[in-house]
Amino acid sequence: MTTLIRNGTVATARETRAADVLIEGERIVEVRAGIQAPAGATILDASGMYVMPGGIDVHTHLDMPMGEIRSSDDFETGTRAAAFGGTTCIVDYATQARGARMRDAFDAWRRMAEGKAAIDYGFHMIVTGLAGGGLADMDEIVREGVTSFKLFMAYPRSLMVDDGTIFRVMERAARNGALVCMHAENGLVIDVLVERALAEGKTAPAYHALTRPPLAEAEAVHRSVAIAEMAGAAVYIVHVSSRDALDEIRRARDRGAAVFAETCPQYLLLSVDDLERPDFEGAKYVLTPPLRPREHQAALWTGLRDGDLQVAATDHCPFRFADQKALGRGDFTKIPNGGPGIENRLQLLWHYGVNQGRLSVNRFVDLVSTAPARLFGLYPNKGEIAAGSDADVVIWDPAIEQTVGVATGHMRVDYSLYEGFQVKGAARTVLSRGEVIVNAGRFLGRAGRGRFQRRAPLGSS
Ligand code: URP
Ligand code: ZN
Ligand code: ZN
Repeated sequence: MTTLIRNGTVATARETRAADVLIEGERIVEVRAGIQAPAGATILDASGMYVMPGGIDVHTHLDMPMGEIRSSDDFETGTRAAAFGGTTCIVDYATQARGARMRDAFDAWRRMAEGKAAIDYGFHMIVTGLAGGGLADMDEIVREGVTSFKLFMAYPRSLMVDDGTIFRVMERAARNGALVCMHAENGLVIDVLVERALAEGKTAPAYHALTRPPLAEAEAVHRSVAIAEMAGAAVYIVHVSSRDALDEIRRARDRGAAVFAETCPQYLLLSVDDLERPDFEGAKYVLTPPLRPREHQAALWTGLRDGDLQVAATDHCPFRFADQKALGRGDFTKIPNGGPGIENRLQLLWHYGVNQGRLSVNRFVDLVSTAPARLFGLYPNKGEIAAGSDADVVIWDPAIEQTVGVATGHMRVDYSLYEGFQVKGAARTVLSRGEVIVNAGRFLGRAGRGRFQRRAPLGSS
């Protein structure tokens, strides 16, 4: 199958230029102005539009088990919604059950995705302990193409690992070329604050945020960076939510430490005030780390623009309001943490970033596609518009105006974090490995066409 995208403006992380894009089968074969259409080629007219590499969301939780419940989007509904929004590849988090082998989690998450995912996908491995050959398991998992591990400094009762484990995992990651993703919050201090709040009868959703102060995040960022430096490893701080955490990241990068970081639209656009919404609606905004006072947002935008934050991901982890968030009525600690966003990332970053003059088009492409591809071993197959790259392409129409919300969205959840937000700019046509999977608001892909991506170790792209 041959496709020619004509008359568009190709935007990559480096440059913006008028050029056509020729695709044969699953790959881009040529990018230049004035390509003649080969006989029989499908022509896509991109006049007035940008032609960009498909979005890569390196922080998702599809079908994620959490106690008795699961996140409400599975690999079918979540990747379909992602495609509508212009995302053509995700890296989801598989969780090692405590005391079990990492291989079991890897196999389980592959089974969850196979036959369901509509776009390509990879996995990070959440490490919950090293008993029973965990370090050797890490090597095996890297050989399988899972080249990043996540560690939690929060949730002492379920996911947190101690500093010694962090050090060991980082040392091993430095040896086998993996990147350690860190959930940086001081879980032990937070647990004391939570216990105290509950004892004082403070049970409303807002206490989720008040018991997880920015300094708990900043302290953990500082500690994880110090441990990474002692281990000679790189560290990637996930879902940075506060100015305080970003300040730690900047200081570390300024002295040359191998520290990378992401933030997510919710921390750029929502605030702790949303947790105060009446009728328990604040529960919709219970995310971890929590939403912060508005004044943190400007610092995060600056971080994205100046490069201290390299990636914009979503942390898509949806739970229905009606029956899942509702589990925490009367006790904020029982509200499942997380919110939906996999579909909205590009349009929000575009509207509030590019349209409002905070980000250039090229910086936008870097944040949502190229930088995540490079950091997580997908580049240059993904994250690039160039001969030889996968034809994961978004034809982006800067003129489309949309109202974000449940009525216009495709995520399997009964609320939107951004209900009523008016945005301009959206994916008109989305190609995944050369196949048009979304066009003019219609889904043309199919469940199960997405492929597992064996990712390369750090430093290979
Ligand atoms: O609230 C969130 N972010 N839930 C997902 C788990 C995590 O920490 O990323
Ligand atoms: Zn996390
Ligand atoms: Zn997460």
